[in-house]
Amino acid sequence: MLGNFSYSNPTKLYFGDDAQKNLSEELKHYGTKVLLTYGSGSIKTNGIYDEVISALRTAGKEVIELSGVMPNPTTEKLYKGAKIAWENDVDLILAVGGGSTIDYAKAISVSAWYDGDPWEKFYLKQEDPDSSQRIIPVGSVLTMVGTGSEMNGGSVITNHETKLKIGKVFGESVIPKFSILNPRYTFSVPQRQMVAGFFDIMSHIMEQYFSGEDDNTSDYLAEGLMRSLIHSSRIAVKNPQDYEARSNIMWTSTWALNTLIGKGKSQDWMVHMIGQAIGAHTDATHGMTLSGVSIAYYRHILRYGLNKFVRFATAVWDIPAAGKTDEQLAQEGVNALLDWMKEIGVATEITSLGVTEEMLESIADATFIMSGGFKVLTREDILSVLHESL
Ligand code: NZQ
Ligand code: ZN
Repeated sequence: MLGNFSYSNPTKLYFGDDAQKNLSEELKHYGTKVLLTYGSGSIKTNGIYDEVISALRTAGKEVIELSGVMPNPTTEKLYKGAKIAWENDVDLILAVGGGSTIDYAKAISVSAWYDGDPWEKFYLKQEDPDSSQRIIPVGSVLTMVGTGSEMNGGSVITNHETKLKIGKVFGESVIPKFSILNPRYTFSVPQRQMVAGFFDIMSHIMEQYFSGEDDNTSDYLAEGLMRSLIHSSRIAVKNPQDYEARSNIMWTSTWALNTLIGKGKSQDWMVHMIGQAIGAHTDATHGMTLSGVSIAYYRHILRYGLNKFVRFATAVWDIPAAGKTDEQLAQEGVNALLDWMKEIGVATEITSLGVTEEMLESIADATFIMSGGFKVLTREDILSVLHESL
């Protein structure tokens, strides 16, 4: 049975191969000073920077640039960015990039006008901004798909000193006001990043799917999204310039984590919790930290949620049920997932991500244990999943 919930999503999306044409008009809703955040410079080589600057000029904006947002943005970078946003008293933060740049923009949005330590308040303590606190609006131009950050309140920051990578889910005031989604903007993403993003999408869907015994619409939506992703990813890995496939994946990615498919049901999220702990220890690519532990994790919990794993095998992978036990079917579903992962080329173990056996205890300590999945993991469970993932 669907649980009770409220649902609202304030992000205005512009989708398509000319979506950026709406940017200058959209920018007119905000004040003159815009903080333009981006990463290490891919937007300068693929032409996106020029298009964004042109829209900002057309809209008559004063632009303050803040570049160098690294994959897995850090606390140090957050402190610097918050200071720049505050000193310049910016009216809007425009993030041009993938999840890291958009997450970072959200972190600055709540931190610029906060007097204390934002890492401690928003991330470590998981508190929300006080209602009286000024929050700077965020808009985004998405250049890499996977995280769903363009239409959600998520913001993940890494503290290398304490080896913690923590995600905070902010509310409506921080979720991007608008996002520009041009699938062509993703064509230049390197293959390894592209497939890591594909697995991130799959993981978001699976972590909302593998929970609960009830019948609910959310699970059917999840199955449809997974089928679409599997289909389009197979096309995209062979031809990354295939607009149809890349646009479908972009749309799937947004819906995979804009909270819709988790509505009214419990959720798991332990793959992300373990993946984030690995990320904090290795700085590895987010999607790969998830793919590296997923097979071991799902084999570990399979017997606790057998019915859903059987459904996964038949409804997502079309595996014939005749003559098989539930256990066999469930295992075949996970095997099909593994085959697909190898086909698209994501990590299926964590050694290649820089994880060593000596790190495992510390990674287990840095893993936040959440309930909601088929089994509440113990520290021993986490260690066992990690060992099996080496
Ligand atoms: O630095 P730039 O030049 O931007 O290059 C990036 C970066 O090196 C490159 N890239 C992006 N678009 C490109 C491109 N290269 C060429 N052409 C383009 N069009 O790709 C690299 C990775 O970018 P990044 O933004 O780090 O990737 P992703 O979108 O996977 O974001 C990862 C971050 O998002 C967090 C992760 O933990 C990680 O910190 N997440 C955020 C979530 C959320 N907001 O809800 C949920 C996710 O589960 C995730 O945890
Ligand atoms: Zn993710």
